[in-house]
Amino acid sequence: MNLAIDLSKVRIKEAEIDALAPRAEEACLALCSGNTEFTGWVRLPQEYDHEELATVLAAAEEIKKKCSLLIVIGIGGSYLGARAVIEALQSQTILDGNCPDKAENRGVRILFAGNNISGIYHMEILHALMREETCLCVISKSGMTTEPLIAFTVLKDALIRKYGEKEAKKRIYAITDRQKGVLREEADREGYTVFAVPEDIGGRYSVLTPVGLLPIAAAGIDVKELLAGAKEAGAAFWVSEEAGHRKEFCGGDEKTAAYRYAAARYLLEKKGKTVEIFEYYEPRLAYFAEWLKQLFGESEGKEGKGLFPASLSFSADLHSMGQFLQEGRQIFFETILYVKKPGCDIIIPESAGIPLAGKSMNQVNEAAMIGVIAAHEKVGIPMIKIEIPELTPYYFGQMIYFFEMTCAVTGGLMGINPFNQPGVESYKAEMQKELQRQTVALGGAEV
Ligand code: PA5
Repeated sequence: MNLAIDLSKVRIKEAEIDALAPRAEEACLALCSGNTEFTGWVRLPQEYDHEELATVLAAAEEIKKKCSLLIVIGIGGSYLGARAVIEALQSQTILDGNCPDKAENRGVRILFAGNNISGIYHMEILHALMREETCLCVISKSGMTTEPLIAFTVLKDALIRKYGEKEAKKRIYAITDRQKGVLREEADREGYTVFAVPEDIGGRYSVLTPVGLLPIAAAGIDVKELLAGAKEAGAAFWVSEEAGHRKEFCGGDEKTAAYRYAAARYLLEKKGKTVEIFEYYEPRLAYFAEWLKQLFGESEGKEGKGLFPASLSFSADLHSMGQFLQEGRQIFFETILYVKKPGCDIIIPESAGIPLAGKSMNQVNEAAMIGVIAAHEKVGIPMIKIEIPELTPYYFGQMIYFFEMTCAVTGGLMGINPFNQPGVESYKAEMQKELQRQTVALGGAEV
C-alpha cells in the first residue's frame, strides 16, 4: 500500500497500541472469515465479477454517448462514495486540458439529487435536465428510501415530458436490490438498465460496487485503476490461495497500518478525545471527508459509543475553527489528509513580495500545514497524518479500502456492530407519522 500512516504525534505509547494486537487480530479475522454478515466488501476488490464490471463500463459508455449530464439520485451510502471520487478526480481544469500533468478526462457532467428534500435544490436540477441531454441513475439498495424516491418521481416525470415515455426509459439506469423493493419492481416492469447491489454489502461500504462504479465511470474516471488500488490495499489483509488451499490471513503483521490507526482511534476515544477531525488542504477532498463522516459516524455511533467524526477544510477553516482548535475544549484529535503531489500549481508573482514571491501555491499550502502541526503540537493535540501520494484513481482505491478496514476493525475493538444503523429508523418513523397527520388534516385518507 502506498499510503503512509504517521502516528508519531498521536501521543499514545507504542506499547499501548501493541497491547491491542490480539483483539485487533480477532476483529480482523472475523471480517476476513466470510462468516460475518455484511463483509462482502472485504474481498470485493480481489474477487470482482469481471463480467459485471464489463456491463457497468458498457452502460457508462452508453451514457457518455447519449448524454452530457447524468443525474445521480441517492442518499447516504448510495451517493457519497461516488460523489467523493468524482469531486476529487473530475475537475473542469483537467477537462479543459489546463493541467498538463493530468490525463484528459472525457466524462459527463454529474449532478446529485435525492440527497435532500429541498424544493429549490431540485428545481435547479430540473432546469439542468431541461437544458442538457440527460440520463438518470437512481440508486437505492432498499428501493424504499423517501428522499431518492421523491426526487426520482419528479425527475422521471420531467424526463418523460422532455423525451417521451419510450426514450425516457432508455435513459434511466437503476441500481437496487437483486430481487425486492419498489425500485426493483419498477425497473423490471419498465425495462430500465438495472444493476444489483450485493446483498452482503451495506450502503456505506458499497462504493466499489455498481453503486459507485457506474457514476464514477460515466464521469470519465478509470474505475479499473480504482479497483486495482483497493486490491493493493486489501492484499495486506488476506491471501486467497496458498498451495491450492484457501488460507485466511488477516493483518498477519500486527503493524498493518489500518490496524494501528484503528487501535490509536480506539485508545484516543478511551482517553476522552471523542471527536476525530478529518483535515484536508485540498478542497477537492471535501466530499471524501463527507464519505468518511458517514462511514465512521454510522458505523460507530451506537450503544452510547463511538468517535464523533468532523471535518475541516484548511486553510479556510483556520480562519474560523482554528481558534477553537488552538485554545478551545480539548475533546478532539486530528487526522490530517495530506496529498504529497497535489498536481497543478501556480507560481506566485513578484508583486506579492517576500517571502511569498516566486514560491508556488502548493508550496505555501504545505508551509501552512507544517505551521499548523507545529502550533498544535505546542498545545498537545494528538495528530495522525495520512500521506496520499497523489489524487489518482489508484490511490483513491487504496484510501477507500484502507478507511473501510480501519472502521470495521475499530468497530470490533469497540464491541459494536459496524454494519447496521438501527438509529436512523427513528426519524423515519416520526416523519411518516407527521406526513400521515398532514394528510388527514387535509382531508385525505389514512394509509
Ligand atoms: O450506509 C447505509 O446503509 C445508508 O447510508 C444507506 O446507504 C442510505 O440510508 C440509503 O439507503 P438506500 O440505498 O436503501 O436508499
